[in-house]
Amino acid sequence: MEELFVKTGPDTGYDIVITDSFEALSEKTDALGFKGRRIFIVSDSNVYLLYGEEVRKSLQSVALETTEFVFDAGEENKNLDWVSKMYRAMTKAHLDRKDLVVALGGGVCGDMAGFASATYLRGIDFIQIPTTLLSCTDSSIGGKTGVDLDELKNMVGAFHMPRLVYMNLSCLGSLDAREYSSGMAEILKHGLIKDNKYYEWLINHFQEINDRDQDTLVHMIKRSCEIKRDVVEADPTEQGERALLNFGHTIGHAIEKYMDLKLRHGECVALGSVAASFISYRRGYLSTEEYYEIRDMFVPFGLPITLPDDADAEKILKLTKSDKKMNGAQIRFILLKACGRAYIDTSVTDEEILSGIKELILTED
Ligand SMILES: NC(=O)c1ccc[n+]([C@@H]2O[C@H](COP(=O)([O-])OP(=O)(O)OC[C@H]3O[C@@H](n4cnc5c(N)ncnc54)[C@H](O)[C@@H]3O)[C@@H](O)[C@H]2O)c1
Ligand SMILES: [Zn+2]
Repeated sequence: MEELFVKTGPDTGYDIVITDSFEALSEKTDALGFKGRRIFIVSDSNVYLLYGEEVRKSLQSVALETTEFVFDAGEENKNLDWVSKMYRAMTKAHLDRKDLVVALGGGVCGDMAGFASATYLRGIDFIQIPTTLLSCTDSSIGGKTGVDLDELKNMVGAFHMPRLVYMNLSCLGSLDAREYSSGMAEILKHGLIKDNKYYEWLINHFQEINDRDQDTLVHMIKRSCEIKRDVVEADPTEQGERALLNFGHTIGHAIEKYMDLKLRHGECVALGSVAASFISYRRGYLSTEEYYEIRDMFVPFGLPITLPDDADAEKILKLTKSDKKMNGAQIRFILLKACGRAYIDTSVTDEEILSGIKELILTED
């Protein structure tokens, strides 16, 4: 078992537990003072079938009572309709301020249960039990919660820190290959923005990573959690540094919308990262070899580096403008000064963004 601590204030913070079973979950929950409290378990329809019963049993040994709330799996359900249903179920279960919400699932579950926890009775405690690679290394850490509003991603939300992040890495075994690859895009991003050595380690271990070798996974997830932790500790509410985590996301989100959610989030992040690396290369920060290596190294992890031939670059450019991560009219674009060193740039022009998008369309395998 590995543990990390995320500091949220002079005397506050939460543990990230990285382990291979749910064995220690009840003890960790007990240690936080939830013995004899009501526990409200939120999960999606896929994850609940796989792990719901085991988690419920484990928490029953601590709780006064457990209640389950299962929503239909999928990003299209990360919305206020489901949050309303959740509030009603929370009320019906007589959840009060001292009780606990447990989010068991991927980023969709964590974001939505986290948001309901942030707002129900003006805020009650919650625990994250991430079950996707993306949620283990990214969304479960840092306290960003929220839901989508129509087609606007994460438009309504709140910062609300979890009391604990508990990961049982054996859950990753049931993840389908595309979801697993999608998570790898964010992990490669961690290396690219902050740690070139880690990036190289990832490239050199792609086989073990693809085989989901447990020791390799522990090392990788721990390092990615450390990077995410360091960034969110330095800038909890995204005034500056935290924006680096948006590397690949400005164009990535636009592609996600353009493709009408046919591509997974991580697949779009990979494409957005290639485009942002291309812009960095054109600015003279990356050499030709470095750019092509970054681009091509998404491939062994099962991630795309090209868009369909008939993709409309101008349309995608337009969609980058509706991304809410803007500073006034200026896009806060994340570029690479070098592999492993990202920075925020507010001077990226439309022409540069368009060239990055076109690079994805022109590039043939
Ligand atoms: N809060 C943040 O800081 C933050 C950061 C990054 C992403 N996000 C959000 O995270 C969401 C994406 O998260 P995600 O990729 O985890 O998606 P997800 O939660 O939809 O999970 C992906 C799919 O995998 C299934 N699944 C989950 N765990 C499984 C398991 N162990 N075995 C088999 N199937 C499993 C789910 O049912 C779902 O169908 C997006 O909504 C994004 O906005 C939030
Ligand atoms: Zn992302």
